[in-house]
Amino acid sequence: MFDMTTSPAVAAAPAAVVTDAAAYAEAVETATRAAAAYYATGESPLDDDAYDRLVRGIAAYEQGHPDETSPVSPTGKVAGGAVSGDVAHTVPMLSLDNVFSAEQLVAWMASVERRTGRPVEEWSVEPKLDGLAIAARYEQGRLTRLVTRGDGTAGEDVSHAIGTIVGLPRQLTEPATLEIRGEVLMTDEQFEQANAARTGHGGAPFANPRNGAAGSLRAKDREYRVEMTFFGYGALALPGSGAELAAGLGEWAHSRVMRHVAGLGVHTADSTPVAPRTLTKAAEIQDRIDEIAAARPELPFGIDGIVIKADRAEDQTAAGSGSRAPRWAIAYKLPAVEKVTTLLGVEWNVGRTGIIAPRAVLEPVEIDGSTVTYATLHNPADITRRDLRTGDRVMVYKAGDIIPRIEAPVAHLRTGAEQPVVFPEVCPQCGSAIDTSEQRWRCVRGRDCHAVASVSYAAGRDQLDIEGLGTTRVVQLVDAGLVRDFADLFGLTREQLLGLDRMGETSTDNLLAAIAAARTRPLSRVFCALGVRGTGRSMSRRIARHFATMEHIRAADAEALQQVDGIGVEKARTVVAELAELAPLIDRLTAAGVNMSEPGATYQGAGTVLGTGPEGDDDSGAPMQTAPGAGPLYGMTVVVTGAMTGALEKLSRNQMNELIERAGGKSSSSVSKRTSLLVAGAGAGSKRDKAEQLGTRIAAPDEFAAMVADFLDTAV
Ligand code: IVH
Repeated sequence: MFDMTTSPAVAAAPAAVVTDAAAYAEAVETATRAAAAYYATGESPLDDDAYDRLVRGIAAYEQGHPDETSPVSPTGKVAGGAVSGDVAHTVPMLSLDNVFSAEQLVAWMASVERRTGRPVEEWSVEPKLDGLAIAARYEQGRLTRLVTRGDGTAGEDVSHAIGTIVGLPRQLTEPATLEIRGEVLMTDEQFEQANAARTGHGGAPFANPRNGAAGSLRAKDREYRVEMTFFGYGALALPGSGAELAAGLGEWAHSRVMRHVAGLGVHTADSTPVAPRTLTKAAEIQDRIDEIAAARPELPFGIDGIVIKADRAEDQTAAGSGSRAPRWAIAYKLPAVEKVTTLLGVEWNVGRTGIIAPRAVLEPVEIDGSTVTYATLHNPADITRRDLRTGDRVMVYKAGDIIPRIEAPVAHLRTGAEQPVVFPEVCPQCGSAIDTSEQRWRCVRGRDCHAVASVSYAAGRDQLDIEGLGTTRVVQLVDAGLVRDFADLFGLTREQLLGLDRMGETSTDNLLAAIAAARTRPLSRVFCALGVRGTGRSMSRRIARHFATMEHIRAADAEALQQVDGIGVEKARTVVAELAELAPLIDRLTAAGVNMSEPGATYQGAGTVLGTGPEGDDDSGAPMQTAPGAGPLYGMTVVVTGAMTGALEKLSRNQMNELIERAGGKSSSSVSKRTSLLVAGAGAGSKRDKAEQLGTRIAAPDEFAAMVADFLDTAV
């Protein structure tokens, strides 16, 4: 097997490793099949980067084993050309060699100058458009024929596409006879339109704009019209051009030829932010390369590199051409910005205004130097329009700082195991109905959705633990205008509650009692109920134990907060900002008589650092903040697993963790060498096995209850 497992994002990534003749044969076959599929249907099972690496691996093997070179190797051909058509090219349509770094570019420029025997004064620096090469023949100013590159010597006649390609006018501004060469591609907008039209007609979407252009260029007799865009990058004379034009096209500098082409009414990259420039110095060229690379994410069309050409005709002639590529031009490849990965699922997130936005969860993939795990999906209709399914292989695009996006599923890679994306039936945040009348779905509660979610969270078992206040009841209270945040709960009257549907006297009294009890919860739970970003149950306990009162917490600046274990610079800043935002709510809670102190904790003042432990707001490694020596579990890290019984039976995991920390220990969720004690109830499984393996002390629930008996009665 050849090995393609390492996949750094840059195009200069290592070549696939082809070690022996069998691996070579397999690699050649994979590459040829991918190229053939690409040229036949516009779709390839390999993304650009993978194809590139494979071909480089093949080339490396061939260099060491020239005798074994296969006649069908992709390296021996004009790149990518797998099918030849029936229209011969007057002059071969060549490909380009690649460089991947500034150093390689400088070396290449020097090699051109060695060939010309003199300094090359003018270089054209232009975008490498990511589409398909095409030759457009004009006779007496009329567009008569369109030919694909094919194998470089002959291509397919795709004249049927005349009229669908923006930038290739049927009629030039002058009755000139010439062949204009350039790239046909789909702009992002054309790609969106093409996929909408295609899926609207029951077809599979194109995976990316290039595939879209390849497929559409070949398609005949479609029921719908798909538009593409042409960018000219060269021109040559044809029989009938006339002596003057033929001489001009042969003698003018490339930049001048392109000005002439644009003057004839043909589209070139000149009208774009990455317009070709004629430059002299290597440093200027590198600067322009950097500029084009930086502009790439914002361009409305794809580029995959920068082409550098000796501009003057005499330099081109002196440098000459190989059978595959000219020696006077080179492609400076940019990192691949597209990769194929798997769509693992779709997450639905509710924003502050109640908009329910889907987000694609991806099998992590390296693109352009970073790992991509999520991609935006604009709205549910977007998912339907693209016919996305869970398990699909999808083409993901990311360049620079832009948010990664899915171009489309690679439909021909489907196995049949893909599942439809599940759309939510109720608001994933608050459980209310969804307004689906607009493209962007919205919780019917709009902004109030947040109120429902935050009040439900505050009333939850691990926070204020208000029995009888489930989501349905919260929805009722919010809808009735009685509650906007959870401080309002403490002002509810018996009459108000009795006025609600399905609220009898008993439920009302029970709910009022539960709300009253919530006033007495320890600070750690009240703090947790606030839902401060970056703090969960465990972190809330650490903060409450460290500062002892809400007043101290509020008085703390970012520096003081960083003394709490697990709070770094960033989190400290977030907490300070969040608390400032929550100040009115906290004031109202205080005024409502909600407890704002942590039983058993005393604030040691700024400068006290107690305990060490890992960062995080989960329950792993929460350090204790009880005064040293204060509890029977002092210095111990305790993990709980299995069902608790006896005195501990009613305690939730969170309450068990609270108990452990009150008794001076650290609670953790996983068994490691650092674990001092595992409390193992019935049904304990792998954690028990691990503790046994490590020789960790194991206690049954009753044994543990006895150890912490003094702290049990204060459990909330
Ligand atoms: S010049 C003889 N200029 O890239 C020189 N090619 O990978 C041939 N391409 O076959 C091409 N943008 O299809 C040239 N500004 C540009 C280009 C460009 C894109 C394509 C072209 C070529 C392929 C090589």
